[in-house]
Amino acid sequence: MKCREQIERLTFMFKINVLRHRFEYLIPVLQANTSDGKAHYKIFFAQRFCKGKSVPQQSLNPTKSAVRHCVMKNGNMRILDVAKKIVLHRSQSNAAHSLWTLLITKISVRFAAVKLKHEMSRCKSIEDCVNLAFDPFSAFPFSITPQQVREEIIELLEILVRRRPKFVLEVGTHRGGTLFLFARVSSPDAMVVSVDLPGVYDWRIPLYKSFATQNQRVNVVHGDSYDFSTLKMVEQVLAGRKLDFLFVDGDHSYKGVKADFEMYAPLVKKGGIVAFHGIVKPDNGCQVDKFWNEIKKVYSCVEVVRDTWAGIGIVYL
Ligand SMILES: C[S@@+](CC[C@H](N)C(=O)[O-])C[C@H]1O[C@@H](n2cnc3c(N)ncnc32)[C@H](O)[C@@H]1O
Repeated sequence: MKCREQIERLTFMFKINVLRHRFEYLIPVLQANTSDGKAHYKIFFAQRFCKGKSVPQQSLNPTKSAVRHCVMKNGNMRILDVAKKIVLHRSQSNAAHSLWTLLITKISVRFAAVKLKHEMSRCKSIEDCVNLAFDPFSAFPFSITPQQVREEIIELLEILVRRRPKFVLEVGTHRGGTLFLFARVSSPDAMVVSVDLPGVYDWRIPLYKSFATQNQRVNVVHGDSYDFSTLKMVEQVLAGRKLDFLFVDGDHSYKGVKADFEMYAPLVKKGGIVAFHGIVKPDNGCQVDKFWNEIKKVYSCVEVVRDTWAGIGIVYL
Protein backbone atom coordinates (compact mmCIF):
# COMPACT_ATOMS: atom_id res chain seq x y z
CA MET A 1 0.00 0.00 0.00
CA LYS A 2 1.36 3.38 -0.93
CA CYS A 3 2.23 5.76 1.81
CA ARG A 4 -0.48 8.29 0.94
CA GLU A 5 -3.21 5.63 0.90
CA GLN A 6 -1.96 4.32 4.22
CA ILE A 7 -2.21 7.76 5.73
CA GLU A 8 -5.71 8.30 4.45
CA ARG A 9 -6.81 4.93 5.78
CA LEU A 10 -5.22 5.55 9.15
CA THR A 11 -6.66 9.02 9.42
CA PHE A 12 -10.09 7.66 8.73
CA MET A 13 -9.69 4.75 11.17
CA PHE A 14 -8.32 7.03 13.79
CA LYS A 15 -11.19 9.46 13.48
CA ILE A 16 -13.65 6.61 13.82
CA ASN A 17 -11.75 5.38 16.86
CA VAL A 18 -11.71 8.80 18.41
CA LEU A 19 -15.44 9.10 17.93
CA ARG A 20 -16.03 5.63 19.32
CA HIS A 21 -14.05 6.53 22.42
CA ARG A 22 -15.92 9.78 22.77
CA PHE A 23 -12.81 11.94 22.68
CA GLU A 24 -15.05 14.55 21.24
CA TYR A 25 -12.67 17.41 21.93
CA LEU A 26 -9.83 15.85 19.97
CA ILE A 27 -9.52 16.00 16.25
CA PRO A 28 -6.48 14.09 15.06
CA VAL A 29 -4.44 15.20 12.12
CA LEU A 30 -2.11 12.64 10.70
CA GLN A 31 1.03 13.72 8.91
CA ALA A 32 3.66 11.71 7.13
CA ASN A 33 7.24 12.62 6.64
CA THR A 34 8.91 10.46 4.04
CA SER A 35 11.94 12.62 3.36
CA ASP A 36 14.32 9.90 4.54
CA GLY A 37 12.56 7.18 2.63
CA LYS A 38 10.78 5.76 5.70
CA ALA A 39 7.28 6.59 6.80
CA HIS A 40 7.16 8.61 9.97
CA TYR A 41 3.76 9.31 11.40
CA LYS A 42 2.85 12.13 13.66
CA ILE A 43 -0.49 12.64 15.25
CA PHE A 44 -1.34 16.15 16.18
CA PHE A 45 -4.20 16.68 18.49
CA ALA A 46 -6.04 19.80 17.68
CA GLN A 47 -8.60 20.91 20.22
CA ARG A 48 -10.61 22.18 17.40
CA PHE A 49 -14.07 22.01 18.82
CA CYS A 50 -14.59 22.88 22.42
CA LYS A 51 -18.22 22.63 23.48
CA GLY A 52 -19.29 23.25 19.91
CA LYS A 53 -17.32 26.50 19.62
CA SER A 54 -14.18 26.88 17.59
CA VAL A 55 -11.23 27.94 19.72
CA PRO A 56 -8.48 30.45 18.88
CA GLN A 57 -5.92 29.52 16.28
CA GLN A 58 -3.04 29.08 18.72
CA SER A 59 -4.87 26.18 20.35
CA LEU A 60 -4.55 24.29 17.11
CA ASN A 61 -0.77 24.16 17.39
CA PRO A 62 0.32 20.82 18.74
CA THR A 63 2.18 21.10 21.99
CA LYS A 64 5.76 19.89 22.14
CA SER A 65 4.83 16.95 24.30
CA ALA A 66 2.08 15.92 21.92
CA VAL A 67 4.57 15.73 19.09
CA ARG A 68 7.21 14.00 21.19
CA HIS A 69 4.84 11.25 22.14
CA CYS A 70 3.40 10.79 18.72
CA VAL A 71 6.31 10.18 16.38
CA MET A 72 5.97 6.70 14.99
CA LYS A 73 8.72 5.20 12.91
CA ASN A 74 8.82 2.69 10.06
CA GLY A 75 5.19 2.79 9.18
CA ASN A 76 4.10 0.92 12.30
CA MET A 77 0.47 -0.05 11.86
CA ARG A 78 -0.22 -0.15 15.61
CA ILE A 79 -0.80 3.54 15.43
CA LEU A 80 -4.27 3.31 16.95
CA ASP A 81 -2.90 1.68 20.12
CA VAL A 82 -0.30 4.37 20.41
CA ALA A 83 -2.94 7.03 19.86
CA LYS A 84 -4.99 5.57 22.70
CA LYS A 85 -1.93 5.68 24.97
CA ILE A 86 -1.32 9.28 24.04
CA VAL A 87 -4.87 10.22 24.86
CA LEU A 88 -4.63 8.41 28.19
CA HIS A 89 -1.29 10.00 28.97
CA ARG A 90 -2.60 13.43 28.10
CA SER A 91 -5.74 13.10 30.17
CA GLN A 92 -3.74 11.82 33.16
CA SER A 93 -1.17 14.59 32.93
CA ASN A 94 -3.94 17.14 32.33
CA ALA A 95 -5.74 15.96 35.45
CA ALA A 96 -2.55 16.16 37.55
CA HIS A 97 -1.73 19.53 36.09
CA SER A 98 -5.25 20.87 36.72
CA LEU A 99 -5.16 19.67 40.33
CA TRP A 100 -1.82 21.32 40.91
CA THR A 101 -2.90 24.56 39.25
CA LEU A 102 -6.13 24.60 41.23
CA LEU A 103 -4.26 24.17 44.50
CA ILE A 104 -1.69 26.83 43.73
CA THR A 105 -4.29 29.26 42.41
CA LYS A 106 -6.59 28.78 45.41
CA ILE A 107 -3.78 29.56 47.80
CA SER A 108 -2.27 32.44 45.86
CA VAL A 109 -5.59 34.13 45.08
CA ARG A 110 -6.32 34.28 48.81
CA PHE A 111 -2.88 35.64 49.48
CA ALA A 112 -3.46 38.28 46.76
CA ALA A 113 -6.81 39.23 48.30
CA VAL A 114 -5.26 39.75 51.74
CA LYS A 115 -2.42 41.80 50.28
CA LEU A 116 -4.81 43.97 48.28
CA LYS A 117 -7.07 44.56 51.28
CA HIS A 118 -4.09 45.69 53.29
CA GLU A 119 -2.92 48.09 50.54
CA MET A 120 -6.48 49.32 50.06
CA SER A 121 -6.79 50.42 53.67
CA ARG A 122 -4.02 52.96 53.02
CA CYS A 123 -5.80 54.70 50.11
CA LYS A 124 -6.95 58.19 51.00
CA SER A 125 -8.00 59.58 47.61
CA ILE A 126 -9.19 58.53 44.17
CA GLU A 127 -5.66 59.10 42.92
CA ASP A 128 -4.36 56.60 45.53
CA CYS A 129 -6.98 54.02 44.51
CA VAL A 130 -6.17 54.43 40.82
CA ASN A 131 -2.44 54.14 41.54
CA LEU A 132 -3.11 50.94 43.45
CA ALA A 133 -5.29 49.48 40.70
CA PHE A 134 -2.70 50.24 38.02
CA ASP A 135 0.17 48.91 40.15
CA PRO A 136 0.95 45.47 38.66
CA PHE A 137 2.00 44.17 42.09
CA SER A 138 -0.97 45.40 44.12
CA ALA A 139 -2.56 41.93 44.16
CA PHE A 140 0.65 39.94 43.72
CA PRO A 141 1.00 37.36 42.18
CA PHE A 142 -1.94 38.60 40.12
CA SER A 143 -2.67 41.93 38.56
CA ILE A 144 -5.93 43.87 38.57
CA THR A 145 -4.72 46.57 36.19
CA PRO A 146 -7.77 48.15 34.52
CA GLN A 147 -7.98 48.22 30.76
CA GLN A 148 -8.59 51.93 30.78
CA VAL A 149 -6.91 55.21 30.06
CA ARG A 150 -5.93 56.45 33.50
CA GLU A 151 -7.13 60.06 33.07
CA GLU A 152 -10.46 58.88 31.64
CA ILE A 153 -11.26 56.49 34.46
CA ILE A 154 -10.28 59.16 37.03
CA GLU A 155 -12.75 61.54 35.43
CA LEU A 156 -15.53 58.96 35.57
CA LEU A 157 -14.69 58.14 39.20
CA GLU A 158 -14.85 61.82 40.12
CA ILE A 159 -18.39 61.97 38.74
CA LEU A 160 -19.35 58.81 40.61
CA VAL A 161 -17.83 59.77 43.95
CA ARG A 162 -20.12 62.82 44.10
CA ARG A 163 -23.11 60.47 43.74
CA ARG A 164 -21.87 57.58 45.91
CA PRO A 165 -23.85 54.94 43.96
CA LYS A 166 -25.42 52.18 46.00
CA PHE A 167 -26.26 49.68 43.26
CA VAL A 168 -23.63 49.21 40.58
CA LEU A 169 -23.42 46.77 37.67
CA GLU A 170 -20.37 46.18 35.52
CA VAL A 171 -20.64 44.14 32.32
CA GLY A 172 -17.10 42.93 31.53
CA THR A 173 -14.80 42.66 34.54
CA HIS A 174 -11.74 40.83 33.26
CA ARG A 175 -8.93 41.27 35.83
CA GLY A 176 -11.21 43.34 38.08
CA GLY A 177 -9.53 46.74 37.86
CA THR A 178 -12.65 48.80 37.22
CA LEU A 179 -14.77 46.70 39.56
CA PHE A 180 -12.24 47.49 42.29
CA LEU A 181 -12.37 51.22 41.52
CA PHE A 182 -16.16 51.36 41.36
CA ALA A 183 -16.33 49.76 44.80
CA ARG A 184 -13.97 52.48 46.09
CA VAL A 185 -16.28 55.32 45.04
CA SER A 186 -19.56 53.59 45.93
CA SER A 187 -21.44 54.00 49.17
CA PRO A 188 -20.19 52.02 52.22
CA ASP A 189 -23.19 49.70 51.93
CA ALA A 190 -23.12 49.36 48.15
CA MET A 191 -23.86 46.25 46.14
CA VAL A 192 -21.44 45.94 43.23
CA VAL A 193 -22.37 43.31 40.65
CA SER A 194 -20.01 41.90 38.05
CA VAL A 195 -21.09 40.09 34.89
CA ASP A 196 -18.50 38.25 32.83
CA LEU A 197 -18.28 35.11 30.76
CA PRO A 198 -18.19 31.84 32.69
CA GLY A 199 -15.10 29.71 32.99
CA VAL A 200 -12.22 32.05 32.38
CA TYR A 201 -12.07 34.09 35.59
CA ASP A 202 -13.97 31.91 38.08
CA TRP A 203 -10.85 31.44 40.19
CA ARG A 204 -10.63 35.22 40.66
CA ILE A 205 -13.90 35.36 42.61
CA PRO A 206 -12.19 35.56 46.06
CA LEU A 207 -10.17 38.48 44.73
CA TYR A 208 -13.27 40.28 43.44
CA LYS A 209 -15.01 39.66 46.76
CA SER A 210 -12.09 41.25 48.60
CA PHE A 211 -12.89 44.57 46.88
CA ALA A 212 -15.80 45.03 49.29
CA THR A 213 -15.18 47.06 52.43
CA GLN A 214 -17.42 47.91 55.39
CA ASN A 215 -20.92 46.76 54.52
CA GLN A 216 -20.36 46.48 50.80
CA ARG A 217 -21.07 43.32 48.83
CA VAL A 218 -19.57 42.15 45.56
CA ASN A 219 -21.77 39.74 43.61
CA VAL A 220 -20.40 37.81 40.69
CA VAL A 221 -22.68 36.62 37.90
CA HIS A 222 -21.06 34.39 35.33
CA GLY A 223 -22.84 34.29 32.01
CA ASP A 224 -22.99 35.72 28.55
CA SER A 225 -24.36 39.21 29.12
CA TYR A 226 -26.84 38.94 26.33
CA ASP A 227 -28.24 35.63 27.43
CA PHE A 228 -31.65 36.09 28.91
CA SER A 229 -30.66 33.79 31.79
CA THR A 230 -27.84 36.18 32.76
CA LEU A 231 -30.26 39.08 32.90
CA LYS A 232 -32.51 36.96 35.12
CA MET A 233 -29.59 36.22 37.48
CA VAL A 234 -28.76 39.93 37.72
CA GLU A 235 -32.41 40.72 38.45
CA GLN A 236 -32.41 38.08 41.16
CA VAL A 237 -29.31 39.57 42.79
CA LEU A 238 -30.84 43.06 42.68
CA ALA A 239 -34.16 41.78 44.03
CA GLY A 240 -36.15 44.68 42.62
CA ARG A 241 -33.64 47.42 43.51
CA LYS A 242 -32.70 49.82 40.72
CA LEU A 243 -29.12 50.47 39.61
CA ASP A 244 -27.46 53.83 40.15
CA PHE A 245 -24.65 53.07 37.75
CA LEU A 246 -24.11 50.65 34.85
CA PHE A 247 -20.74 50.23 33.18
CA VAL A 248 -20.78 48.51 29.77
CA ASP A 249 -17.37 47.06 28.95
CA GLY A 250 -18.07 43.52 27.74
CA ASP A 251 -18.52 42.50 24.15
CA HIS A 252 -17.39 45.51 22.11
CA SER A 253 -19.27 44.56 18.92
CA TYR A 254 -22.16 46.77 17.78
CA LYS A 255 -24.63 43.97 18.42
CA GLY A 256 -23.09 43.21 21.83
CA VAL A 257 -23.01 46.74 23.16
CA LYS A 258 -26.51 47.47 21.86
CA ALA A 259 -27.85 44.31 23.51
CA ASP A 260 -26.10 45.19 26.79
CA PHE A 261 -27.69 48.63 26.77
CA GLU A 262 -31.14 47.41 25.79
CA MET A 263 -31.12 44.63 28.39
CA TYR A 264 -29.51 46.34 31.39
CA ALA A 265 -30.32 50.05 31.01
CA PRO A 266 -33.95 49.38 32.04
CA LEU A 267 -32.54 48.26 35.40
CA VAL A 268 -31.00 51.71 35.94
CA LYS A 269 -33.08 54.21 37.90
CA LYS A 270 -34.21 57.49 36.38
CA GLY A 271 -31.39 59.98 36.85
CA GLY A 272 -28.84 57.14 36.98
CA ILE A 273 -25.77 56.79 34.80
CA VAL A 274 -24.73 54.36 32.07
CA ALA A 275 -21.11 54.52 30.90
CA PHE A 276 -19.65 52.81 27.85
CA HIS A 277 -16.00 52.01 27.43
CA GLY A 278 -14.39 52.26 23.99
CA ILE A 279 -16.32 55.02 22.23
CA VAL A 280 -13.29 56.15 20.23
CA LYS A 281 -13.25 54.77 16.71
CA PRO A 282 -10.56 52.10 16.91
CA ASP A 283 -8.60 50.19 14.30
CA ASN A 284 -9.18 46.84 16.01
CA GLY A 285 -12.74 46.04 15.00
CA CYS A 286 -14.51 47.33 18.13
CA GLN A 287 -17.82 48.92 17.24
CA VAL A 288 -18.84 50.74 20.40
CA ASP A 289 -18.38 54.06 18.55
CA LYS A 290 -21.12 53.08 16.10
CA PHE A 291 -23.65 52.51 18.87
CA TRP A 292 -22.41 55.55 20.77
CA ASN A 293 -23.03 57.81 17.76
CA GLU A 294 -26.63 56.62 17.70
CA ILE A 295 -27.33 56.89 21.38
CA LYS A 296 -25.77 60.26 22.00
CA LYS A 297 -28.44 61.84 19.79
CA VAL A 298 -31.13 60.51 22.10
CA TYR A 299 -29.81 61.06 25.64
CA SER A 300 -27.95 63.71 27.53
CA CYS A 301 -24.34 62.56 27.19
CA VAL A 302 -20.75 63.44 28.07
CA GLU A 303 -17.67 62.14 26.28
CA VAL A 304 -14.46 61.59 28.21
CA VAL A 305 -11.67 61.13 25.69
CA ARG A 306 -8.06 61.70 26.71
CA ASP A 307 -6.25 59.44 24.27
CA THR A 308 -6.43 58.04 20.76
CA TRP A 309 -7.98 54.77 21.94
CA ALA A 310 -10.66 53.83 24.49
CA GLY A 311 -12.78 56.83 25.48
CA ILE A 312 -15.65 56.68 27.95
CA GLY A 313 -19.15 57.75 26.99
CA ILE A 314 -21.47 58.72 29.83
CA VAL A 315 -25.24 58.73 29.45
CA TYR A 316 -27.51 60.43 31.98
CA LEU A 317 -30.84 58.64 31.95
C1 LIG B 1 -12.17 44.91 28.16
S1 LIG B 1 -12.45 43.61 29.28
C2 LIG B 1 -13.09 44.45 30.69
C3 LIG B 1 -12.05 45.28 31.36
C4 LIG B 1 -12.44 45.81 32.71
N1 LIG B 1 -13.69 46.52 32.70
C5 LIG B 1 -11.35 46.73 33.21
O1 LIG B 1 -11.18 47.82 32.66
O2 LIG B 1 -10.67 46.33 34.16
C6 LIG B 1 -13.86 42.89 28.58
C7 LIG B 1 -14.45 41.75 29.40
O3 LIG B 1 -15.74 41.49 28.88
C8 LIG B 1 -15.96 40.12 28.92
N2 LIG B 1 -16.99 39.81 27.91
C9 LIG B 1 -16.87 39.81 26.57
N3 LIG B 1 -18.03 39.47 26.00
C10 LIG B 1 -18.91 39.24 27.00
C11 LIG B 1 -20.25 38.82 27.07
N4 LIG B 1 -20.96 38.58 25.96
N5 LIG B 1 -20.83 38.66 28.28
C12 LIG B 1 -20.13 38.89 29.42
N6 LIG B 1 -18.85 39.30 29.42
C13 LIG B 1 -18.24 39.46 28.24
C14 LIG B 1 -14.62 39.49 28.63
O4 LIG B 1 -14.57 38.18 29.16
C15 LIG B 1 -13.67 40.45 29.32
O5 LIG B 1 -13.38 40.01 30.60
